[in-house]
Amino acid sequence: MVLVSVSSSKGGSGKSTTSINLGVALAQLGKDVTVIDANLSTPNLSMYLGAPNLPITLQHVLQGQAHIHEATYQHASGAKIIPASISMRNFDDINLYDLRNHLPHIKSEFIILDGAAGIDAEAQAPIQMSDQVLVVASPELPSVADALKTVRIAQHHAKHIRGIVLTRTGHHADLKIKNVETILEHPVIGIIPEDSHIKDALVKREPVVHVFPNAPSAIAYRKLATYFAGHPEFFATEEIPKAYKVMKWLIGLR
Ligand SMILES: Nc1ncnc2c1ncn2[C@@H]1O[C@H](COP(=O)(O)OP(=O)(O)O)[C@@H](O)[C@H]1O
Ligand SMILES: [Mg+2]
Repeated sequence: MVLVSVSSSKGGSGKSTTSINLGVALAQLGKDVTVIDANLSTPNLSMYLGAPNLPITLQHVLQGQAHIHEATYQHASGAKIIPASISMRNFDDINLYDLRNHLPHIKSEFIILDGAAGIDAEAQAPIQMSDQVLVVASPELPSVADALKTVRIAQHHAKHIRGIVLTRTGHHADLKIKNVETILEHPVIGIIPEDSHIKDALVKREPVVHVFPNAPSAIAYRKLATYFAGHPEFFATEEIPKAYKVMKWLIGLR
């Protein structure tokens, strides 16, 4: 079983889009996969999938009101989804860390935790619960600097960083992939282009890999899934150039 958190301290970097599309692309490959909305403060998996008012959600499970199987919904692709409630109801008594007690009931080959932005306890919980971390960033310095925080948090918790997923690529001013790998000290294992089909899919409340399988982003997510399903090995990276060492020192992440 592979338990992976999709994480990045930057909001809007593509964590949820990546969690859903990687999950559905793995399901399309015939894998048993469960995607969990591990973002209780700003959940959006259910909205991305067009089912905002589900009767039983992750919060019910964490409150002891439902079994995790009752909060599991199946997408047409076969991927299983455990959504979080979007209600503003007071969920103060809920502790995301309790999810750890429910995870053993999930028998999927792949469990994907869609994490929250930031570096607080909510953002760190999925990383702590997982075996591997997929770090999401877009190819610009602020996003990569934020992703470096995620890398450091994952390392602090002694988690295996599976690789970097670069999202919204294709702009002429993008950081070079090699430079992103150098800064983040891990390989880029997915390159997802900026693609208007992602928004078109959002309007249809479906993952892009499901409704627009030939879209550039869908092809890229399938490639990531194929890699993810087949190549568990870790690639070491090379020596870090001085300019990036200075940048890391400046933001205290040396
Ligand atoms: N490759 C992409 N091309 C175009 N838009 C994208 C792409 N990836 C994500 N988006 C858009 O960016 C926004 C934020 O994505 P989301 O996955 O919700 O980020 P996060 O979960 O990290 O906050 C969404 O509106 C989404 O549709
Ligand atoms: Mg999200």
